[in-house]
Formats: sequence, structure tokens, C-alpha cells
Amino acid sequence: MSKNKVSRRQFLSYTLTGVGGFMAAGMLMPMVRFAVDPVLQPKASSDFIPTQQKVADITDVPTRVDFKFEQQDAWYTSEETGTAWVYKDDKGEIVALSPVCKHLGCVVDWNSDKANQNHFYCPCHGGLYTKDGTNVPGTPPFAPLDVYPYIEKDGYLHLGKAEPKKGA
Ligand code: FES
Repeated sequence: MSKNKVSRRQFLSYTLTGVGGFMAAGMLMPMVRFAVDPVLQPKASSDFIPTQQKVADITDVPTRVDFKFEQQDAWYTSEETGTAWVYKDDKGEIVALSPVCKHLGCVVDWNSDKANQNHFYCPCHGGLYTKDGTNVPGTPPFAPLDVYPYIEKDGYLHLGKAEPKKGA
């Protein structure tokens, strides 16, 4: 008899280990895939969200622009609504500001405070911002309103993810 001959016990042990390992992998793979699936999803082709705002219709008066977008939260996708205050500055450049107050996150409104015309006003604690989104000293907000990067596509305004104002 050869020294390398596998005994019946060893054969059964190897076979059961192999089959058990295979079955365990078969059960674990879907769970691992489920847990990391959002990470594996390809990013959207464009990071800019289309709005219904025609670029040609943008004036020098801040106008509220609402837009819808899909938000991915792990494996749950929901439709959300975003808002921007949009106008053209003195040079004709588009400015798109986030409405989220930098104090505690309430929503600012344009020109709604009679005592401070032509300002963004936060009704929660009296926060004030100038037209370009700069926070007025002496009011609660500690930073300027965030700014949306934008592109123009087929005549319509597309907005990116709001980010802190540069130089602030
Ligand atoms: S949340 Fe806007 S001033 Fe406080």
C-alpha cells in the first residue's frame, strides 16, 4: 500500500470541508454584495441637476428655483426637492445661492424683511445676508450662504452640489 493513499476518513473530511466552504460562500456572497452595493454603483454621468429655469429668463432679481433630484441613501433611493436663489450679478454672471441659513439651517427668503430691503432674511433668528449671500455682521449667521456651481445646458440652468462660498 502506498504511503500517500487517502483514507476513507480523510476523503470524507476533505469532501465535507469543500462542500461546506462552497455552501458558506454561496450564502455569504449575497449578504456582502447587499452591504456594499451602493459603493459599487457607477456614479451618475453628470453631477449637475437640471432645473426648469431658462437661463435667458434669469434677471438681476433673486428668484426661487425649485428642482427635484434622486438621493441615494445606502440602498434606498428617494426623490428630494432642492431650492436655489438665482439671479445675474452686475457682470451678467449667474449666481445660485443655497437657501439654507448658516446659523441653524432654517430657510432664508429674499426681500421678506421690511426693515432690511434687498437682503436675504432668515425668520428663525433674524439672520441677514446681502444679495451676494454674505452674512451681515451682528446677525446670527457665521458664514455666507453656500453657492451652487452651475452649467447651462440646452438653454436651461443645471445645478451642482452647493459648496461654501470661495474666499469666505
Ligand atoms: S437659523 Fe437662520 S438665523 Fe438662526
